[in-house]
Amino acid sequence: MLNRRHFLTGTAAVAATGALAACAKTNNTTSASSTGGAAKTLTLGFSQVGSESGWRAANTQSVKDAAAAAGINLKFSDAEQKQENQIAAIRSYIQQKVDVISFSPVVVTGWDTVLQEAKAAKIPVILTDRSVDVSDPSLYVTLIGSDFEAEGERAAHLMEHVLQGHTGPVNLAQLEGTTGSAPAIDRTKGFAKVMAASDPTWKIVVTQTGNFTRDGGKQVMAAFLQSHPEINALFAQNDDMALGAIQAIEAAGKKPGVDIKIVSCDGVHDGFVAMTQGKINAIAECNPLLGPQLMDAAKQVAAGKTDLPKWIKTKESDFTQDQAAAALPTRKY
Ligand code: AHR
Repeated sequence: MLNRRHFLTGTAAVAATGALAACAKTNNTTSASSTGGAAKTLTLGFSQVGSESGWRAANTQSVKDAAAAAGINLKFSDAEQKQENQIAAIRSYIQQKVDVISFSPVVVTGWDTVLQEAKAAKIPVILTDRSVDVSDPSLYVTLIGSDFEAEGERAAHLMEHVLQGHTGPVNLAQLEGTTGSAPAIDRTKGFAKVMAASDPTWKIVVTQTGNFTRDGGKQVMAAFLQSHPEINALFAQNDDMALGAIQAIEAAGKKPGVDIKIVSCDGVHDGFVAMTQGKINAIAECNPLLGPQLMDAAKQVAAGKTDLPKWIKTKESDFTQDQAAAALPTRKY
């Protein structure tokens, strides 16, 4: 797949949105000043992946709140984790002649045709959260989202931190996100890369998708515990799967966070609560609050700006149990 690193413009990219926003000419200001009449409201068609996780709920809220705050007319649709629904939504936005299209792609492949249709209709496309693998990078203007491979690496380093002083083998289980999605592919890659250079007695003994859902995490972890009772560490690629796995671990009579060390990604409210309870050991944050950056970028591309950074990266932090109680009241999602 397209390696996001190729487009890395550094942390300046994050700061760039704010600065660019300041000099951006929106549709509103352009038409108001040139016609002297009422400002034209920018219409943004947004296709959300689904509502699979707490992260996704926070991301949806952020997009809706930011659109309202920016005075943008948001057409929102939920694809229920199905690519065909996202393609249908994008085609509908093209038919409606929206000013800008944005979507968070459920998987990385299979987007060339519909994105060519958007390009032919001269509607700019902004990716949020997840990347796509397309033959022609000009099919989208920019990606606003996290470095998932780095998140996988950070999660692996957190696991090393959590297992400091551990004696004996480490038998790791991994709950992967939605198969074929950018975060699942890249977190798996980043985590494996660090693990390969770690203690040779540490092994990923079992890995399977839990589809980023709490129920998926619970069911798959229950099966893992049956087939691999030796598991003593878990990397869950999001908090929701970790929370489901915790239920399965407790049902199996084991103590999450103690008998089985757990590291996850996201940092949603419930994940932080589980950390304060000692059930999740550490979290590599993935920030879902992308709405304001998306609205800034939408205004800029609607005003004709084409040279936004190809990847506007999200800033994130790592958290361990000892930081959880102090950080919890400050969490925004
Ligand atoms: O694409 C971001 C991922 O999607 C989040 O980590 C996960 O919780 C969500 O469903």
